Amino acid sequence: MERRKKAVMRKRTRGESTASVPQFTNSPTMIVMVGLPARGKTYISKKLTRYLNWIGVPTKVFNVGQYRRDAVQTYKNYEFFRPDNKDAMKIRKACALAALKDVCCYFTQDHGQVAQVKLSSPDYINCDKEEAVADFLKRIDCYKITYVPLDDEKDRHLSYIKIFNVGSRYLVNQVQDHIQSRIVYYLMNIHVTPRTIYLCRHGESELNLVGRIGGDSGLSTQGIKFAAALGSYIRGQCIPDLKIWTSHMRRTIQTAEAIGVPYEQWKALNEIDAGVCEELTYEEIQDHFQEEFALRDQDKYRYRYPKGESYEDLVQRLEPVIMELERQENVLVICHQAVMRCLLAYFLDKSADELPYLKCPLHTVLKLTPVAYGCKVESIFLNVEAVNTHRERPTNVDVDRDPEDALLTVPEHN
Ligand code: G3H
Repeated sequence: MERRKKAVMRKRTRGESTASVPQFTNSPTMIVMVGLPARGKTYISKKLTRYLNWIGVPTKVFNVGQYRRDAVQTYKNYEFFRPDNKDAMKIRKACALAALKDVCCYFTQDHGQVAQVKLSSPDYINCDKEEAVADFLKRIDCYKITYVPLDDEKDRHLSYIKIFNVGSRYLVNQVQDHIQSRIVYYLMNIHVTPRTIYLCRHGESELNLVGRIGGDSGLSTQGIKFAAALGSYIRGQCIPDLKIWTSHMRRTIQTAEAIGVPYEQWKALNEIDAGVCEELTYEEIQDHFQEEFALRDQDKYRYRYPKGESYEDLVQRLEPVIMELERQENVLVICHQAVMRCLLAYFLDKSADELPYLKCPLHTVLKLTPVAYGCKVESIFLNVEAVNTHRERPTNVDVDRDPEDALLTVPEHN
């Protein structure tokens, strides 16, 4: 919190606006996931939480089933869930109240914006599979006795979204603010069809070779080799209906051209705009903008280059790309280091602090496959050597540090 205030203050004293990054200061939102067991509540809760945190809305899941598991250490059987089991009902009500109390603390003390209370399950660890299924079905019957669906008339004053049949139909009622409408839009765009997303950077560029950031140079000799290797790799994967996306920059377009199939160009995928530091080496930035260089090391996610962008800005710019990725099936995104970090952070649920330091080396494809509640990542190096462009955060981030300390982690270049 302190760090955020500092970053905003600094931007104000420099006369810049922070307006491009929406500040969600509405009253907090509580989403209650209701439905019979095994209807995808956990899947939706986790995915939506990941999205909201990524766009900058602090969100947390409170799983009432987990409170019950903590209270009743060993799961017995479905009888616990019978509506006439008074002792169990007492425990379940106490758990629901405890979860609500924690939600209140989250909103008041931790400044959370969205809480999702999830009502239900992993109870059958180490159980016989068939017995577990039989018990689970009986348990669903217990829920059915008391389960009452939302009523169009009686519940017309409530804000809710009803999802039928894994998203084949939606009923949206009383959407009241910006966050709620973004949640509805997101839920209407996600799907569960198995697919793979491939992320990679352009081939090594002429500016990468000399350690200069940004710019719009073409590929180096090694970069051209990578583009050819990427083409062979993609053809070898035989991916049905693969879509290929690039930025508007020469190095990504040249890389895609080598694959020899149609591709789509997205301006939103352009590399972070380094403003007055475009085409400079890290050494030159330290030389000409010593204070800026240190301020970036202090808060790399929120630091905005003078006349340029921050990683936080980049996430906002990439939100439509993520939404479209959610709608699509197999996609290869050929992008840039900072952009790939932002996209990867979304899929791997990485925090704003981790995001600007995620390792996205040149000439390496990351293959992302959705699994149960997250994403499996495979890293495939295509055997074409390239320069390293990853600069770790140095230990000394003071504005008056020695140049030697500031440049300690700059990767080697010509
Ligand atoms: O500026 C362009 C780079 O690809 C991003 O690198 O954010 O680690 O400095 P950086």
